[in-house]
Amino acid sequence: SPAVIVAIDGPSGTGKSSTSKAVAAQLGLRYLDTGAQYRAITWWMVHHGVDITDPAAIAAVAGQPEIVSGTDPAAPTISVDGTDVAGPIRTQEVTAKVSAVSAVPEVRTRITELQRTIARAAEGGIVVEGRDIGTTVLPDADLKIFLTASPEARAARRSGELNGADVKATQEALVKRDAADSSRKTSPLAKAGDAVEVDTTDLTLQQVIECVVTLVEERR
Ligand code: C5P
Repeated sequence: SPAVIVAIDGPSGTGKSSTSKAVAAQLGLRYLDTGAQYRAITWWMVHHGVDITDPAAIAAVAGQPEIVSGTDPAAPTISVDGTDVAGPIRTQEVTAKVSAVSAVPEVRTRITELQRTIARAAEGGIVVEGRDIGTTVLPDADLKIFLTASPEARAARRSGELNGADVKATQEALVKRDAADSSRKTSPLAKAGDAVEVDTTDLTLQQVIECVVTLVEERR
């Protein structure tokens, strides 16, 4: 069967990563976490002392870091200039700063090109997860999914992942990041007109995975 391209978008805490990895593994597809790429370029900016409140300063060096993503869904990897940054990109500092960096058009152009190159090269097909995959990066994707969930459910899942971090503080940080991602000028978080919306609030992860696998198989 020809390579199938699946775009999975939505705000944080909707189960995007867990769902995307599992669907890719079940169907023998590659997997790309585009949020990890924006986190990696943010980590690089922080590491190099770039003033992240200054979009012009970010834009000036946006082309410098070399970001490499490994697309095996069983063991995805992310490195910058040869350094494995899988751990450091998940810190609270990077999480708090990533929306500002990812809003800079020069950063988005650079990362979008990288994503298209990876998707094109993926033998058999790929599941790409992010915020603007269906609308901007891969508008011709074979299947577009938009995952949603109530803010309460999203915060509870996130704080569970962070070993029981304060749910209220987690919810506030998450709502703030979603608002920034949804309101930026360049390719904001948005549901594509032809995306299938799946509300995961009352679904188990297994149910979401089955739902997406079925949709992919219908389009293959
Ligand atoms: O998915 P994750 O929470 O790791 O994404 C981190 C951040 O990267 C998002 O809050 C957003 O600012 C940015 N992002 C983006 N476009 C994407 C994926 C992520 O702007 N396609």
